[in-house]
Amino acid sequence: MPIYSDKVMDHFMHPRNVGEIENPDGVGEEGNPVCGDMMTFYIKVKDNRLEDVKFKTFGCGAAIAVSSMVSEMAMGKTLEEALKITPAAVAAQLEGLPKNKYHCSNLGAQALHKAIEDYRSKKTQGEKKS
Ligand code: FES
Repeated sequence: MPIYSDKVMDHFMHPRNVGEIENPDGVGEEGNPVCGDMMTFYIKVKDNRLEDVKFKTFGCGAAIAVSSMVSEMAMGKTLEEALKITPAAVAAQLEGLPKNKYHCSNLGAQALHKAIEDYRSKKTQGEKKS
């Protein structure tokens, strides 16, 4: 049985920013083929900043705590700053994860980064059309 930090337990029991954003500017989905867990991030962007970040996670307790922490870390950041959020930084903010749960911390940052890429590709497509 892995031993979780108080921070992980707090974010697992009371995850922040759970849900979906209506008409999101970007959506990013990431799954772990080993355990089958899935995570989706939704973002709203204004003036190159993450105005809102929400997520839905079907996964283990660590994956839920990771998504909650990523959403808090990313909120209000510029896109460039949010792209610098790494799985290691997320795990550190959670005061560590058990060794066999490190892989869970990859999902959060990757799903967020994919949502930003989705926003950017939609934006360039829009610019090409107009
Ligand atoms: Fe699958 Fe944690 S066990 S993400």
